[in-house]
Amino acid sequence: MTKTNYDLEKQHAKGKLHAIERINALCDKDSFYEIYSAAHHNCTSFGMDQKKIPYDGVITGFGKINGKKVAVYAQDFTVQGGSLGKVHGQKIAELMSQAVNAKCPIIGINDSGGARIQEGVDALCGYGELFYQNVRASGYVPQISIIAGPCAGGAVYSPGLTDFIFTVDSISQMFITGPKVVKSVMFLDISAEDLGGASIHSQKSGVAHFRCQNEKNCYEQVRKLLDYIPHYYGENIVAEKFKFDAHKSAKTIANVVPEESKKAYNMHDVINCVIDSGSFFEVMEEFAQNAITGFGKIEGKSVGIVANNPAGLGGILNCDASDKIARFVRYCDAYNIPLVTFVDVPGFIPGPQEEQKGIIRHGAKMIYAYSEATVPKITVVTRKAYGGAYIAMCSKHLGADFVYAWPKSEIAVMGAEGAIEILYAKELKDPLKAELVALKSQEYKDTIMTPTIAAQRDYVSEIIQPEQTRERVARSLEFLENKQQNTMPPKKHGNIPL
Ligand code: HXC
Repeated sequence: MTKTNYDLEKQHAKGKLHAIERINALCDKDSFYEIYSAAHHNCTSFGMDQKKIPYDGVITGFGKINGKKVAVYAQDFTVQGGSLGKVHGQKIAELMSQAVNAKCPIIGINDSGGARIQEGVDALCGYGELFYQNVRASGYVPQISIIAGPCAGGAVYSPGLTDFIFTVDSISQMFITGPKVVKSVMFLDISAEDLGGASIHSQKSGVAHFRCQNEKNCYEQVRKLLDYIPHYYGENIVAEKFKFDAHKSAKTIANVVPEESKKAYNMHDVINCVIDSGSFFEVMEEFAQNAITGFGKIEGKSVGIVANNPAGLGGILNCDASDKIARFVRYCDAYNIPLVTFVDVPGFIPGPQEEQKGIIRHGAKMIYAYSEATVPKITVVTRKAYGGAYIAMCSKHLGADFVYAWPKSEIAVMGAEGAIEILYAKELKDPLKAELVALKSQEYKDTIMTPTIAAQRDYVSEIIQPEQTRERVARSLEFLENKQQNTMPPKKHGNIPL
């Protein structure tokens, strides 16, 4: 990198690393080469003709992570607040375009006050070009955003268009308009942290995918993520060495699901018994915890894991969980990462709150994403699979290649209590018929709520013991390795209910 007068102290005073330090922390040692370092704005208004802005506020270049090439840019907040003018935007857009040509991931380190106010519409043009390149690259090369400072106004939409957003406690803030504007327009006093801090976007808005304790940890996590994903569409990942303790796994998995059907358990325990030891890398861990999404490895190869988690809201599907699953499924499908889905779901959430939020629209995204995905799709039903949620969680009907069900699975339209309340509403009011109702409830459990009927109809490929899951999934993935599928009629593109 060229030795400009980097204002390290100004940045350190805010508890942040400088752009140049960030790039060095992210990339392999001495691997980064800066390009377009001489770029400069040509704005003359509001005293800008007097302002020298090194590299126009953003360092751009290419380097390596884990020995593989990447394109990187880092905005420098010490230079006119990292604000984005026409040249600043063009630099990033050009880098992105080259990353697409070179087939490598794009990593953006964002720390910016948004559109450079002095440049007016030229600044907006800079953003427009950036967004266009974000969309061009989407699904072709992975795009990762690190939010390493305030990101205001237009500065949030480029990260918003990327695949993964990393935030850092205390220093990341993302908002369309900052606290001052909120105060003047809405008469609301709110801190930047409460408006768009790391925990807001990881836990509530679902904008961010990862929350890290500090910057150092953040760069490590980005490097780790890049170890799980193909670096461009079509890249064939070679299996790595792996560890798996079959004995320990078999012992644990047999006892994870409680006897009592309504009792909660943590689906992470099941996932960890199926994938290579210690390989789970969770995505959106803090958002919609009734669903789990993340990458894992099976026999050294990456898979996308999706699951309901009975430990969170009983594993029910709501708007947020549906969005989280749909987006993850589409990412995996775009990059040919096989999907393994673990199902224990009592249904889609009922009630006015989620209906008004649009559970129909959000749930439909999931159904769409799974149906559209052509990667190998393997589903494991560990316990409940009720109603529409049974279908939506990658059932055979949505194109799962193999569905495995554990012997105590309950695959039905709904739970026995709900079913009997509807079928025997009159009898339930009569205490003399209590015995009949209990009998019917048991009959429903024994005859309808089992995996047997689904297996007889081929909706379930095989009923397996929990201890057999790892081996079954691994062999199925091996069998499906060269899967080719094109069952859609020719069209420009579908219309996912966004
Ligand atoms: C030009 C900017 C700037 C901007 C900050 N600076 N933002 N210069 N354009 N957008 C400059 C400041 O003037 C200051 O310059 C230096 O950067 C550091 O900024 P401070 O305000 O001193 O830093 P801090 O107190 O940490 O506050 C950070 C901040 C605040 C919260 C981000 O700067 C802020 O509110 N900025 C404006 C945010 C905003 O509304 N942006 C425009 C959004 S509209 P000196 O010379 O004093 O060091 C937008 C539309 C695009 O982006 C839409 C596209 C779709």
